[in-house]
Amino acid sequence: MLSMIPRLIGHRGAKESAPENTLASIREAAAQGAAWIEFDVMLTRDGVPVVIHDDTLDRTTDGHGPMNVVDHAALKRLDAGSWFDSRFAGERVPDLTEVLDLARSLTLGINVEVKPFPGQEEETAATVISFLQRYWPDNGRLLVSSFEVPSLETVRRLAPALPLGYLLWDPPADWAAIAGRLRADTLNVDQERQTARSVAEYRATGRPVLAYTVNDAGRAAELFSWGVSAVFTDAPGRLQREMGAM
Ligand code: G3P
Ligand code: MG
Repeated sequence: MLSMIPRLIGHRGAKESAPENTLASIREAAAQGAAWIEFDVMLTRDGVPVVIHDDTLDRTTDGHGPMNVVDHAALKRLDAGSWFDSRFAGERVPDLTEVLDLARSLTLGINVEVKPFPGQEEETAATVISFLQRYWPDNGRLLVSSFEVPSLETVRRLAPALPLGYLLWDPPADWAAIAGRLRADTLNVDQERQTARSVAEYRATGRPVLAYTVNDAGRAAELFSWGVSAVFTDAPGRLQREMGAM
């Protein structure tokens, strides 16, 4: 069953203040008062689920090249913090298990985004599900999402009761039929594309609408006024303060 999702979800932790998708970023989100975080999961070459956004290493680590050729041991030698600020030197690309442990110890809710390397849609989803069944078995304060329909289908097949979010960027014409077939619990949409009318259309399916990525308090207030339930933000603390001052 879908838990109550708070209005603000820390995007990749608190990406404005710390290197995205690291343990430091998750601690920062919690310190800023976020109750939930979102993060992205991909597999190493040897099949270990790790928390990273891009399918190449270059932007968020001191490594180079595609993610699907790096083994877990080699990945863990890379620095995932210095690119952001020297204060974060020594941060690593975290394993999914490390993030689940930390989130539990900080009592954070989690949105696990299945972010497969192209061609690994089903394998990545199946691995995420097997880890969640082992390390987050009660499904509480949990939402699994993906842009990739084959990943979502795999999640639904392996975990019929798991809270599932259908991520949309440029929605296909049959998005509502796909959402129905997947029994998606939420629609997670690109905030830049939204209008009062589009949000109303999504809400008419009876599903909560979550919008990514909102770092402006005025825009967040507008989206909430249209009926958006929650926004993903790189700056949960700042947005909370600014919205409180409005
Ligand atoms: O899950 C919301 C958002 O993270 C989706 O886009 O590219 O930031 O993973 P992206
Ligand atoms: Mg994401």
